Amino acid sequence: MKHETVIILDFGAQYSQLIARCVREQHVYCEILPFSVTLERLGEINPKAIILSGGPASIYDPGSPRCDPLIFSLGVPVLGICYGMQLIGVHEQAEVKRAIRREYGKALLSIGNFENLFAGFERKGNIRVWMSHGDSLAGVPEGYDLLATTENSPVAAIGNPQKKIYGVQFHPEVVHTELGDRIIANFLFKASGCTPDWTPGSFIRETIERIRKDVGDERVICGLSGGVDSFVSALLVDRAVGDRLTCIFVDTGLMRKNEPASVENTFRHHHRMNLVCVNASEEFLRGLKGILDPERKRKIIGETFIRVFEREAKKIDKVSFLVQGTLYPDIIESRSVKGPSATIKTHHNVGGLPEKMDLKLIEPLRELFKDEVRAVGRELGLAEEIVGRHPFPGPGLAVRVLGEVTRERLDILREADDIFISEIYRAGLYDEIWQAFAVLLPVQTVGVMGDERTYDNVIALRAVTSRDGMTADWYRMPYEVQGRVSNRIINEVQGVNRVTYDISSKPPATIEWE
Ligand code: XMP
Repeated sequence: MKHETVIILDFGAQYSQLIARCVREQHVYCEILPFSVTLERLGEINPKAIILSGGPASIYDPGSPRCDPLIFSLGVPVLGICYGMQLIGVHEQAEVKRAIRREYGKALLSIGNFENLFAGFERKGNIRVWMSHGDSLAGVPEGYDLLATTENSPVAAIGNPQKKIYGVQFHPEVVHTELGDRIIANFLFKASGCTPDWTPGSFIRETIERIRKDVGDERVICGLSGGVDSFVSALLVDRAVGDRLTCIFVDTGLMRKNEPASVENTFRHHHRMNLVCVNASEEFLRGLKGILDPERKRKIIGETFIRVFEREAKKIDKVSFLVQGTLYPDIIESRSVKGPSATIKTHHNVGGLPEKMDLKLIEPLRELFKDEVRAVGRELGLAEEIVGRHPFPGPGLAVRVLGEVTRERLDILREADDIFISEIYRAGLYDEIWQAFAVLLPVQTVGVMGDERTYDNVIALRAVTSRDGMTADWYRMPYEVQGRVSNRIINEVQGVNRVTYDISSKPPATIEWE
């Protein structure tokens, strides 16, 4: 069965992925494509509706991004958001007013038409919406109804139910817009007649079927990294081909406390899968000896991982497929408007293996966002502590032991990190936090314990809130929890006499220290 698909045309919007997630949350499948997509490609997809994203350009800029105008005559419902709405205006020959200055922030939307987009909003009447735009429509295009206004944008929402074309000046996809999800749902279900057929259950059924067909009688290997993506990928492939899947777990020695044992327990004993565990910590530590530079650490870990994995994979007969946990944000085709961005850190994913292995790839999660991976994991019976786990970087604790990585320093960090995370759990704060971890600093400080002077290590605690890891704010952790963690670490972890709490946001800091 093929899903109904909604297409989001990306005009360089900061928020295109948010739009996509809002649509998916309504259980409607959608994809983001560059604004320049051809009508042929759209014809192949046969979308149920099209959403035009916002974007940083002014329609008056030379070379401002434009989609094929025939999109408006396909009979497919269209919703234009911000810049997307101005394109509708231009197409319909309405006047678009050039901005003197941008409007940015909250505005009060007065709704005047309670059909389609604003169906069910009667009791509210006015809602708070989020604006971020330069140009705006000065008039209502012919044949369209004015649906809503704000003080600064008299034409804040328009619609033509015959043509099924709608436009909003504000951003329904951001959390600051009240009931934004209702507006998106109304566009999908009332204006476009979509069916909510995109659910974890249907995804699992279809993916298993597809993998079975692709793999036939051949064998598959999968690298388990300890993260939710590789676990969920492995479980899906296991459901499809059972014993013909072998998972390889490389213990790099850079994992958190008890992590290797817990991976083994979950997969070998609980899910009863074919699992090869390789303890390669010596090999990793040897490679990292004397290395201080974070990017060199990442490179060495990446290369060592590939070497170990290939060695193990060769021991398994007649393998033709490799599973990879690629997610949808990794493959979105929106480069045409965004251009390359500077590399801050090489986020080399340890699960990512090279083409030279000459294996065909299976990427069961390539259509999913992270929160959808979690939903699928839950449906597959993966334990909540794995599904809801904070992200963990591929190079593991190597980028949290600042400076040289040694077994002793890793052990100190593991103990401190374990205390921090267990106290966060105990205080019931784990799910409020995007990521929390301890960092071992490369300096010693003076302390006093009993009557003795000490000269020992410093642990920094980091906890952040975030939606996607691209930006983050430091987490306002209650003082009692900070105090308890600090006491326990200093008392229980030998070699630590000081604990600090990191209060930097991203940007300008990053989440990890290296
Ligand atoms: P930064 O430190 O860049 O981190 O703000 C953003 C997110 O990415 C994770 N991270 C990594 N993940 N390999 C990974 O697989 C890496 O080398 C790496 N470096 C950072 C980080 O934990 C956070 O979730």
